[in-house]
Amino acid sequence: MKTSVLLVSFVLAAFFNVGNASKILFVQAFCAHSHYTLGVTIANELAARGHQVTLIAPYKQEKPHKNLKEVIVDSCTTVSDLKGDLYEMGQMSYWGQMHVASTFGFLSSDKVLADPQIQKLLSSDEHFDLVVLEHFFNEPLFIFPYKFKCPSVTIAPGPMTVFTNHLMGNPAPPSYVPTILADYGIHMSFWQRMKNTYINLLGDFFVHFELLPTMNNMLQKHVPDAPAITDIIYNNSLMLLTSHSSFGNPVPLQPNIKEIGGHHILPPKELPKDIKDFLDSAKEGAILFSMGSNLKSADFPEDKKKAILKAFSKIKQKVLWKFEADLPNKPSNVKIMKWLPQKDVLAHPNVVAFISHVGLLGTLEAVSAGVPILGLPVFWDQVKNIDDAVGKGIAVKLNFFELNEETFDKALTEVLKNPKYRANAKRRSQLMHDQPIKQMDEAIFWIEYVIRNHGAYHLRSSAVNLKWYQRYLVDVIAFVGGVLVIVLLIFYKLMGVLFGSKKSDKHVGKSKKNN
Ligand SMILES: *[C@@H]1O[C@H](CO)[C@@H](O)[C@H](O)[C@H]1NC(C)=O
Repeated sequence: MKTSVLLVSFVLAAFFNVGNASKILFVQAFCAHSHYTLGVTIANELAARGHQVTLIAPYKQEKPHKNLKEVIVDSCTTVSDLKGDLYEMGQMSYWGQMHVASTFGFLSSDKVLADPQIQKLLSSDEHFDLVVLEHFFNEPLFIFPYKFKCPSVTIAPGPMTVFTNHLMGNPAPPSYVPTILADYGIHMSFWQRMKNTYINLLGDFFVHFELLPTMNNMLQKHVPDAPAITDIIYNNSLMLLTSHSSFGNPVPLQPNIKEIGGHHILPPKELPKDIKDFLDSAKEGAILFSMGSNLKSADFPEDKKKAILKAFSKIKQKVLWKFEADLPNKPSNVKIMKWLPQKDVLAHPNVVAFISHVGLLGTLEAVSAGVPILGLPVFWDQVKNIDDAVGKGIAVKLNFFELNEETFDKALTEVLKNPKYRANAKRRSQLMHDQPIKQMDEAIFWIEYVIRNHGAYHLRSSAVNLKWYQRYLVDVIAFVGGVLVIVLLIFYKLMGVLFGSKKSDKHVGKSKKNN
């Protein structure tokens, strides 16, 4: 009896597994570890839940799940040359910053589409039920869902921006939604709203007159029979945002845009022994210092390195610094490592502060662990992230370009001594975990929902079918304006006929009198 029940449940389980398993092409090709982490955790989860996943990625995993087939593309060689210049990016014009960011995406996608494995895949008659695609200045990669005639889900490495709003038909009034390049929070003064409107318009111009034409040329180069890029990018079913309301801003989101920020923070793993011993012994508390995977601490100018070490030598706390080279003359409380498991370190109870470039990933990890931040923003969204974090009372800001011994000392003392940052960080951590379901479960739910509902067209905003001038009501305003002008003209003419004739009567009368 028992065995037959077992047998039946096995058969049922097998049946349901087969019934629910889908073939998913997962494109996480951009060359950056932070972006990769956001995507690969979802790809692995999909595989673990029984889906057959083909993952296009720049990095290999040690032991990929048996349901996950990796296609490794080299999207890095062209990109890594650019990374050395990242510290300068923060001092560029807005247009310049957009140009550099999109160049990263451009070079990366160009290598992906040129790869023989990808060319072969595109001309194969493979079948997929869904394409999951990271969206980061890689519009030509929308050729995948087009070729395989299946729905797509995109993952954005952050909140909605001027580069993604048009894809989803999502509204972002510049009066209260700060752009990704803003150096101000959500409470904008008149001049900040002016600046915000300007950056938004500039972004729209950039997208439609520089980005899309350039990307279209690349697409046509690699896929000769491809339709125009604007014919394929507006067919996306759902967008997952890796931002989160516990840290980001409340802004409008269409029903097919879901926030899953923090999904990549899996339960903490055991720390390597040397790190664990170092943190365990930090009775006065420990500080984690990391500029992430793209900016290197080793590239800091000499004077900044000196200023930082001097400040560290004066504090009781221990410092774990992700530093990618040798560092002579460091004080005894400082330990450097080329690589460290950042989120697991942040989860250690002795960690009292996080010195960071305030990238989105690290910030979410700090919020999740309830650790206050000393932010040294350099470029792109970091400048906005720190303003958001300061606005929520969980961070102290020190512009990287203004870092010297005095400013660093002051900022460090503030974040360590003032208890308000820690209290606020704890509160934000609670908010992040106060959810009806875990972020990863939510991500998987919506991905499977799109498959189950054949693209979930009912969630799609009709704004994606409009031209930009229709979306902004330029045509309606022009029409109403035109009608108004015509009415005024007619009115003016009528007045002329009515009063003008009386006038000329008088005139006639006068001249008669004169006679
Ligand atoms: C649009 O997406 C649907 C699935 O959601 C797909 O069947 C169709 O082929 C796509 N059309 C274009 C033009 O990409």
